Order: sequence, then structure tokens, then C-alpha cells
Amino acid sequence: MVQTKIKEASSFIREQLTHQPTVGLILGSGLGVLADEIQNPVTIAYKEIPHFPESTVSGHKGQLVIGELEGRQVIAMQGRFHYYEGYSMQQVTFPVRVMKELGVETLFVTNAAGGINETFQPGNLMIITDHINNMGNSPLIGPNDEDLGPRFPDMSEAYDRDLIQHAHQSAERLNLKVQQGVYVGNTGPAYETGAEVRMLRTLGGDAVGMSTVPEVMVANHSGMRVLGISCISNMAAGILDQPLTHEEVIDTTAQVREDFLGFVKDLLRGLPA
Ligand code: HPA
Repeated sequence: MVQTKIKEASSFIREQLTHQPTVGLILGSGLGVLADEIQNPVTIAYKEIPHFPESTVSGHKGQLVIGELEGRQVIAMQGRFHYYEGYSMQQVTFPVRVMKELGVETLFVTNAAGGINETFQPGNLMIITDHINNMGNSPLIGPNDEDLGPRFPDMSEAYDRDLIQHAHQSAERLNLKVQQGVYVGNTGPAYETGAEVRMLRTLGGDAVGMSTVPEVMVANHSGMRVLGISCISNMAAGILDQPLTHEEVIDTTAQVREDFLGFVKDLLRGLPA
């Protein structure tokens, strides 16, 4: 029973906490350093938590870091689970269910993504306004537990409008040039072909990655409000005349680390109720 697993995992975590987290942070490839800034952290390795999968990608640490950041009680995932690792959609999104059970109401999801929009540049940060689920699967397939959320959840405002506006105001305050756009979730693990990138552009995508969509679907299902930020780590395949590598993705995210950290911290500071 899924509910039992969620409760067992969240009880295990709660026992180690003195405060209830209200903001969840899912930190993507190369962006996990944000968790190092959390004050009075309680750190729990995924492998210790009942029913949690373990993450396998380099650049991902595989632990929860829980504590205070910019005056907020946060719970951060330093490394996430990807569908391409072979986990089920339910496993990929299990931590979001657990966060909800712990009291999280606002979820920040971050990722590294390839720029489809040709006006973007590697190193840009993009506020996600919407997404396209191109994974051919959904974490919500299967029997629906009404205690977790509705059978047919509304996804018309998957990324909270107030939070998008808040993010633009924050970027302006910081004098940070940000893009905004539609994130396409592909399964990976192969990067796209040039033809696929052209197709995704025609379909309305601005950036493409291999995560985020499942977590955001479950967050919406469970009634959380979501803010998404992509770090454009590279231009998607076929735009520049060069091959894509995971190293480039990690290198670029390292270069924008300071912007990213400053942005998310400012977002937390002024988070609207
Ligand atoms: N494609 C898919 N996923 C990615 C990319 C990309 O170009 N860059 C970072 N993650």
C-alpha cells in the first residue's frame, strides 16, 4: 500500500527533525550545492530512508538536507531520481509524496536543461511557465488514492502564476537576466537528435531535459504550488555544430552556480504566503 510506505518514510524523517519543513527543493544536476547553505542541517542519506530509491548519477549526492534557509524551513533533495535510471514513475515521485506528508506546501524544482529556444544562451536561467510531458508515461497511472489527490487533476496552472511573477520580480531586484519558457520532459538517457529538437521547438518547447515533469505532476496532484527553474546548461542538439556531453552540462551549471544560489535564496526570502 503506497500510503503506508509514504507514512513509514515520513515518520522516519520526522523523528529526526525539530521543525516542520514547508518548502521543498529538488536540486538538479550540478545544483545540489544550494543544500550546503542550509543552516543547522539534518542530513539523511536516501539509502537510510525506508522505501526510498538510491540515486545513481554522478553529480548527484543522494541525500535529504533539512533545515533553515533564508528564514524558511526547507527540505532539499540533493540529487533526484530519474525515470531513465530504471525507476518506475511512482519511485521517481515518491519523495514528493513524502514531502507533502511532512507538511511541504511549496515545491521548487530545478534542473539542467538543453536550450531549444535559439534566443537562449548556455548559462541562462529559465523560469518554467509550463511543461510538455513527452515521457510517454505518467506517475498518476494506476489506482487513484483519493486521500492523495483527485483522479483527474487539473494541470492548467502546473507552475503557480504568483510564484512565476514573484520569480520575475526577484530576478529584476537582483539584476539577473532570466528567460522564461516551456520545459519538455523527455525520458533520456540519450540526448535528442537534431530532428527531435526541431520537432520539440515546433511543439512549443523552449528547453528540454530528462526530469521534473513527473515530480511536478505529483506535486499538482497533491495540491502543492510549484515553481520551476531550469539552468540552460547547453544548447540542445543540432543548434550548434558540436556534440553534447554530460561534462558540458556539469561545467555550465558550475559557472552559473552563484547566480542560481542568489536567485533561489532571494526567492525564499520573499516567498508570498
Ligand atoms: N537534453 C536533454 N536533457 C538535458 C540536456 C539536453 O540537451 N541538457 C541537460 N539536460
